[in-house]
Amino acid sequence: MRRRFVAANWKMNGSRARNRQLLDALKPPLRSLGGRVDIVVCPSHLHLGETVSALAGSPVRPGAQDLFGLENGAMTGEISASMLVDCGAEFVIVGHSERRGRLGETDAAVAAKFAAARAAGLVPILCVGETRAERDAGNTEAVVLRQLDAVTGEHGIEAMDGAVIAYEPVWAIGSGTAATPEQAQAVHALLRARLREQSGAIADGARILYGGSISAANARELFAQPDIDGGLVGGASLKAEEFTAICAGADS
Ligand code: PGA
Repeated sequence: MRRRFVAANWKMNGSRARNRQLLDALKPPLRSLGGRVDIVVCPSHLHLGETVSALAGSPVRPGAQDLFGLENGAMTGEISASMLVDCGAEFVIVGHSERRGRLGETDAAVAAKFAAARAAGLVPILCVGETRAERDAGNTEAVVLRQLDAVTGEHGIEAMDGAVIAYEPVWAIGSGTAATPEQAQAVHALLRARLREQSGAIADGARILYGGSISAANARELFAQPDIDGGLVGGASLKAEEFTAICAGADS
């Protein structure tokens, strides 16, 4: 039985004061959940250190939203995996569609980031997902498998051992309309089957999250699907009550 997993992606939101407020509001209710769900919060890089301090003694774990795919060196403005570890991150989102789509991040760059994260001991949360146009053209399967294969092809199926995958249809992100549980389940099953072609154990253990307009209203139904192991939550993770309700929905 896979442990459920819910991650908050705060994106480019927050301030030191606002984050403190949000974490103060989140910590007590999340501590009183049944302990059946791993919960991760991913603030901006600038706010990571303070978030780590604020989470001391809490079961909620800190993560980052991105990293650069090289260990260190001349890369102005970038952040390496070892820097994230040094500042207390345990997880890192890799290949989010906002970075792929708006910042031109390629499959190869995502694979390099994934490997750098693993090498430093971070757990990568690999995002995959199709755009509306790709779905309408019937290319959903090809797109998400290409994005997954870009990592396993380069680094082997072992790279996915203990990793987390997030299926985030680009058309659902921030739209207020999530994929239906059936639409999401179909893609999750496809991703797990792809892993299973290479390793049954890794396929069974991989946590595959859904992301894209998750809310307190739709979370339970999504998480009830056999291949949906939790969620990557954007907008709703900025509201303490909403995020707590989503985590409670996964804690069963
Ligand atoms: P959303 O974002 O929940 O605001 O749709 C999810 C994500 O982009 O990770």
